[in-house]
This record gives sequence, structure tokens and C-alpha cells, in this order.
Amino acid sequence: MTTPAAEIQARTLAGYADASKLRQEHDRDWVLSHLPGQPATLLDLGSGIGQLLQAALVRFPTLRQAVGLERSPHRIAEAAERLRPYGDRAVLREADLNAPEPVPYRPNVVTMTSVLHWLYPTEERILSWVREQLAPDGTFLLTTYHPARDDHGLGGEDDIVRDALTALGVRRDDVPALFAARDVLPIATRTRPADDLERLLERYFRVAEVHERDAVVSVDSAGQYGHFHAATFGDYYGRLVGPARRPEFFRAVGEAAWRRQQERGRVSHMPVRLWRLTPGDVRTVPPEE
Ligand SMILES: C[S@@+](CC[C@H](N)C(=O)[O-])C[C@H]1O[C@@H](n2cnc3c(N)ncnc32)[C@H](O)[C@@H]1O
Repeated sequence: MTTPAAEIQARTLAGYADASKLRQEHDRDWVLSHLPGQPATLLDLGSGIGQLLQAALVRFPTLRQAVGLERSPHRIAEAAERLRPYGDRAVLREADLNAPEPVPYRPNVVTMTSVLHWLYPTEERILSWVREQLAPDGTFLLTTYHPARDDHGLGGEDDIVRDALTALGVRRDDVPALFAARDVLPIATRTRPADDLERLLERYFRVAEVHERDAVVSVDSAGQYGHFHAATFGDYYGRLVGPARRPEFFRAVGEAAWRRQQERGRVSHMPVRLWRLTPGDVRTVPPEE
């Protein structure tokens, strides 16, 4: 099968199975290896194409139900295909994590990997929801990325996009204003600094463990990065250019990443944290206004 052009792929977030090998795939076993005991029910939030659910179903024969909540119908369809061999043990539901419905059971485990930044700045909604749904002795495993950011709140993927826009003729100093004008919140702003996030998590959970590793992204070509970007970020940054310039934009993103690869031996690296959270005894602090 040939890979569709990145701008077409971005519309449906297609190609994630390949793209996630560059970064997100490494989180899966890492996360599941921090699960205490043998779970009976696992709920994965922002379950994408069902890879974590599949890994959990294989790893834990005790798992009676692995449930995924996901917003993208394209991703649910791909996950349904992947999880078909597991029959009733796998359940997928279309849901918006900004306003999720209660689930009719108390899961032993809730996982959420590479998703929380998409819920910024109202992450407290999902955190309080997880706290309510989780079994009293349950575990919430959360991964969060923490790119360094500049004074404008740009960093990580935003930096690669900034290089791409500059190559397309935007003045470098004008890029932060362009993000603001097009209502594109920098991803490095969406991902709160680790200390801020910890304070937020402590409103709802006991932080039982924190692990950190360096997530390094390396590619073999500009095209490979263009596809990774499209599968991971979809059209999010596409608003920074008009629809007519999207093909050029995805090419420029790939080329910007490839230049970094050649100069630095990798495209990017940033710390990723794994938080093991339990309901525990938490301080009851009213949410911030
Ligand atoms: C970077 S992917 C991570 C997928 C998977 N958890 C993994 O680690 O590979 C982020 C996922 O969160 C989903 N997502 C983002 N915002 C969401 C929301 N408000 N409600 C439900 N799913 C959401 C996206 O559709 C996407 O599948």
C-alpha cells in the first residue's frame, strides 16, 4: 500500500501505527510494566488505534475488559480491526474526554498516554472524573511530555513548525504572533511544566511514583518525519497556513526535521514522565478559578 500525501493523511490522523514507532510506542511496555498485580478491568483514555489495549490484553490474561475511550471515529475503526481477535474482552467507545459520561463499573486501572496536553487548560475535568470512576484500590497511569519552551511558550514540535514556517517565508520573530492570530496554542504551552502538573495531580491523587526518560526522535528521511507529524498532530498546525499551502507546509516540516537530524544526530528529545497515581488520601483543595 502506498502512503497517502501527508496533508491527506493529516485529515484522518491515518498512519499512526507506523508513525508511533518513532516515539509513542516506547511508552506502552514502560507503562504496563508499572501496573501492580493482574488487573480485571482497564480503561484507556484517548486510546487511539488500540495499541495499548492490545498490549494489555496479551500481557494480562486476567483482563476481562479492556475499554478504550477515543474521540476520532477513524482511530476507533482502526482499533476495532486490531482488537477483533479479542472478542468481548475489548470494548471501544466514541467519547470526548472534555465531557466524558460515567462508566458502569469501577476500573482497576486507568491509563492515559500522550493525551493530557490536548485537554489543556481544563485538565481538571478529566482528573476529577478519573478520581470518581477509579476503584478505591485502583491505579491511574499517566504519561506526559515536557518540552522546554521559550518566552512565547513555544518549544518541542512548535520549534520544528517555526523552522518550517521560516523556510516558507514567515519572519522568525513573527511566528509567535502568527500562532496567536490563528488561534493555535503552542503544544509546549499545552504541556504544563512538570512541577505545575504535579501540583494539579495532587489535588485528586496521591503521586505514588514518578519515572522519567528521554524520548528521542530520529528519522531516516524528511518524508518519514512529515508523515509522523501528520499522524500525530493531524491538521492542528495546518491552520497556520491556508489550505492551498498545506502540501508545502508538511514538506517543509519534514525538511526542517531532517535538517535537525543531520545537524544534531536526532530530530528532537524531551523528557517524558510516567506518573503512577492512586486515589489515596488527597488534600481537598478547591479547583483554581
Ligand atoms: C498522541 S495520540 C495518543 C494515542 C495513544 N494513547 C498512544 O499513546 O499511542 C492522542 C489521542 O488522543 C485523542 N484525543 C485527543 N483529544 C481527545 C478528546 N477530547 N477526547 C477523546 N480523545 C481525544 C486523539 O484522537 C488521539 O487518538
